[in-house]
Amino acid sequence: METGIALAKKVAGQKAVEYIKAGMTVGLGTGSTAWWAIQEIGARVKAGLDINAIATSDQSYELAVALQIPLITFEEITQIDVDIDGADEVDRQLQLIKGGGGALLREKIIAAASQQMIVAVDEHKLVDTLGKFPLPVEVVVFGWEMTARKLAALGTQTVLREKNGQPFITDNGNYIIDCAFNAITDPATLHTRLNAIPGVAENGLFVNYAHTVIVGYENGTVNTL
Ligand code: 5RP
Repeated sequence: METGIALAKKVAGQKAVEYIKAGMTVGLGTGSTAWWAIQEIGARVKAGLDINAIATSDQSYELAVALQIPLITFEEITQIDVDIDGADEVDRQLQLIKGGGGALLREKIIAAASQQMIVAVDEHKLVDTLGKFPLPVEVVVFGWEMTARKLAALGTQTVLREKNGQPFITDNGNYIIDCAFNAITDPATLHTRLNAIPGVAENGLFVNYAHTVIVGYENGTVNTL
C-alpha cells in the first residue's frame, strides 16, 4: 500500500489515464509517475480497451511490451491523440522542466506530435519559478566539452550526468549535461538560446506543451490544473 510521495505519484498517474478513449493513439511517458499511468493503461487494455501506444523511452517500451499494450511506430501514424508523461518541475503557466530520467528528447518528439499532453506530477513538482531543478540538456558526444562551455556561457553551472561512475548515455546515444540556472524567468528565450548551440540535441524546457497538469497529493487526492 503506497503512502506519501509514492501515493501522490500513483493517484496522479492513474487519474491521467482517464483522458484516454477507445481508438486513441497514446504517448507513454517515462519515470516513476508515468510508470503508474502505464500500469493503469495495461490493466485497461487487458480489460478490453482498444488503443495503440508509442513509448518515450526504451524503459517504457519494455514495460508496455510486458503489459501487452499494443505498440505502434511513427511509420504508421502522423499524430498522437494523447501523451501522458511526468515532469520534474511545473510552474503556474504549465511550463515544464523534464529530463530527470534522461528521456527528454523522445519525450519532446512525442509531446510535439500529440494533440494533448497530460502531465502527471506529485505535489512537490509545483514551483513558482522554474530552475531549482537543474535543467537537463541532451548533447551529442562529439565535442561535448565545447558544448558544455557554450552552455556555461549562458550563465549556468554545468555537470555531465553520470551513472555508475561513467557518463550517462541516453537511449539516443547522447550525453546529458545538467545545468543549474537556479531561476529561469524567461523559459521561451532560454529554450531558443540553448537549442541554437551546435551539439545540443534538445533541452528539457517544455514551453507551451502541457494542456493539463494532474497534481497528486500525499493525502491521496488529485487536482487538475
Ligand atoms: C524523464 C522525465 C520524467 O517525466 C521526470 O523525470 C519525472 O519523473 P518522476 O515521475 O519519476 O518524478 O522527464 O525524462
